[in-house]
Amino acid sequence: MADLDGLKDGKDYGIGTPVQEQPFFLKGSNHLDWGMQNRLSRLFNPKSGRTVMLAFDHGYFQGPTTGLERIDLTIAPLMPYADVLMCTRGALRTSVDPALGKPVALRCSAGQSILTELSNEYISVEMEEALRLNASALAAQIYIGAEHEHQSIKNVTKLIDAGTRYGIPTLAVTGVGKDMARDARYFGLATRIAAEIGAHFVKTYFVEKAFETVTHGCPVPVVIAGGKKIPELDALTMAYRGIDQGAAGVDMGRNIFQSDSPKAMIQAVGAVVHELMRPERAFEMYQDLKAQGA
Ligand code: R5P
Repeated sequence: MADLDGLKDGKDYGIGTPVQEQPFFLKGSNHLDWGMQNRLSRLFNPKSGRTVMLAFDHGYFQGPTTGLERIDLTIAPLMPYADVLMCTRGALRTSVDPALGKPVALRCSAGQSILTELSNEYISVEMEEALRLNASALAAQIYIGAEHEHQSIKNVTKLIDAGTRYGIPTLAVTGVGKDMARDARYFGLATRIAAEIGAHFVKTYFVEKAFETVTHGCPVPVVIAGGKKIPELDALTMAYRGIDQGAAGVDMGRNIFQSDSPKAMIQAVGAVVHELMRPERAFEMYQDLKAQGA
């Protein structure tokens, strides 16, 4: 029988004190449902509003690329320093410790290889599987201007619809169409299309000129991919400039795991992203950590 003795009537209702309601910290996400905002709060640090995503999904079309030959040996030691892991379900099940507790942006497209047309993708993960893997975000490419542009847009919209049903945000990754110039005009077009079809955040590349027009023309957060390996100071400078011009973080792979000291590099990138540490200072931090054997 329920213990009903000693129950006291409530008396402090805060009459006259309005309910405290904060706007959600992430651009374009204020009207999303609770589960969606909760997952976005795992993906983006609510204090800085930004994220360091560690991308190691390259194998789904590139095979064992440099630095990813053994994910268990090279990437696992970096995972504690990342805010988010971006990978395929194959990498997740074989090489990521479920007890680590890091949110996962799950690569949900496939269908091509470096030997064939890159834009020829389909949705390769069922929603049920994404839920089973406890994905915090679903990810697929949109290839604007490429041969399979239409199908790639369809892929992303399908993910958005499926994810929305269960409160899982979708990351649209802007894959570059073969004949398109990699400039602010192109990425402005691609990121805006991604946001308008309903992507909750968008990954794109940093460009030297007018990158702020890309971030400001996109009504949801933009994260930047690292691209091919460049010297560490240059990569830190790119991250700094991207953040300074409105990016909400990085989704970086090769410039971390192909670095001379990946552990030092991911920490230096983290300082740039979350503290807006100047690139020269972050490079010193990288060198210090490297010298200490990071
Ligand atoms: C590429 O297909 C993947 O989406 C990667 O996650 C993305 O390119 C980021 O990796 P990186 O910094 O090496 O360019």
